[in-house]
Amino acid sequence: MSSRVRINEVVTRDGFQSEPRFIPTEDKIALVDLMSRAGYHAIEVTSFTSPKAIPMLADAEAVMAGITRNPAVEYVALIPNVRGAERALKANVDAFNLVMSVSESHNRANLRMSRDESCTQLADVIRLAHDAGTPVNVSLSTSFGCPFEGAVNPEAVLEWAGRFSDLGVRGVSLCDTTGMADPGSVSRLCHDARDRFPGLALTLHFHNTRGMGLANALAALQAGIREFDASLGGLGGCPYAPGATGNICTEELVHMLQLMGYDTGMDLSLLLEGAARVESLAGRQVPSQLLRAGPAGSPRASSCA
Ligand code: COA
Ligand code: ZN
Repeated sequence: MSSRVRINEVVTRDGFQSEPRFIPTEDKIALVDLMSRAGYHAIEVTSFTSPKAIPMLADAEAVMAGITRNPAVEYVALIPNVRGAERALKANVDAFNLVMSVSESHNRANLRMSRDESCTQLADVIRLAHDAGTPVNVSLSTSFGCPFEGAVNPEAVLEWAGRFSDLGVRGVSLCDTTGMADPGSVSRLCHDARDRFPGLALTLHFHNTRGMGLANALAALQAGIREFDASLGGLGGCPYAPGATGNICTEELVHMLQLMGYDTGMDLSLLLEGAARVESLAGRQVPSQLLRAGPAGSPRASSCA
C-alpha cells in the first residue's frame, strides 16, 4: 500500500471559526500564503456560511481574492447551502466541501434544518458545482458520536455516504466533531467504508477532545486511509457543538508520519512556523505539544528524566 499521505489544512476554517476575537483579513491571507509553501494537498481556506452564523469568516470573498495560489495546492471552501455555493463559485474556489451531520440534533443546531432538508439543498449544490466543473467532497459531521445524542450508528454513516456517492461526489470526510471516536470504532468504520465505496475518496477528520486524536489517525492509516484533515497548532472546534475542542494538530500528525516513514511531502519547519503564527494570532497558547517540545531528536529536548 502507498506510503503517500495527503494532508488538508483546516486552521483558517475549522480553527478560526470559534475564535472569540476577529482575525484581520490580511493576517488570514498571509497565513494561507505561508501554508501554500508547506506541501499541503489542500487548504480549506474559509467557509461561505451566513455571516450571522460565523462572523469570523464573513470576509470569505476578500480572503479568496487576496491569497496567492500555488497551482499544486487545492483551495477549498466549506459550503452549507446554495447561497454559499453561488458565492464560492464567484470566488473561484477549486473544490467544495459540503457539510451535514449524521445526527439529526447536531444538524439542526449547526445548520438549522433537518438532515433531509440539508440533503435536498446539498443535492442542488452538487448539481451547481458539477455544472461548473468543481469537484465536491461531503463532510459528515458527528460520524463517531454526537454531543446531543451520544452514540451514532455506523450503519447510518454508511447510508449517508452512500446517498452522496450516488449523487456523484468525489469524496466523503468522516468527521469526529467532538472527539468521540476511539481506534477500534475508527478501524471498523474505515474498513467498512472502504469496502463499500471503493471509488470514493475517504478523508478522516479528527478532533483531539478526549486525547485520542493521533491514536485514531494511526488506526485509520492502518485501515488504509491516506487523507487527513488537520489544523496548525491544534486549533479548532464547531461553535454549535457543546464542549468541542481542537482538531488534531497538523505539525504533530506530520511529525508522527515522517518518523514512521510515510511520505507527506510536507516541510515540518514551515509547519512549526505556521503554528507559532497561529498562536500569536489567537493570542493564547495553542494545544500543540510539538510547538513546545520541538521535533524528536532535536537538541532542545528537555533535560528532565
Ligand atoms: N452566505 C451568506 N448569507 C447567508 C447564507 C450564505 N451561505 N445562507 C443564508 N444566509 C443569510 C440569509 O440571506 C439571511 O440573511 P438575512 O437575515 O439578512 O435575510 C440569513 O442568512 C438567514 O438565512 P436562512 O436561509 O434563514 O438561513 P438560516 O438562518 O436557517 O441559516 C445556514 C442556515 C446554514 C446558512 C446557517 O446556519 C449557517 O451558515 N451555519 C453555519 C454552520 C457552520 O459553518 N458551522 C461550523 C462548521 S461545521
Ligand atoms: Zn472539525
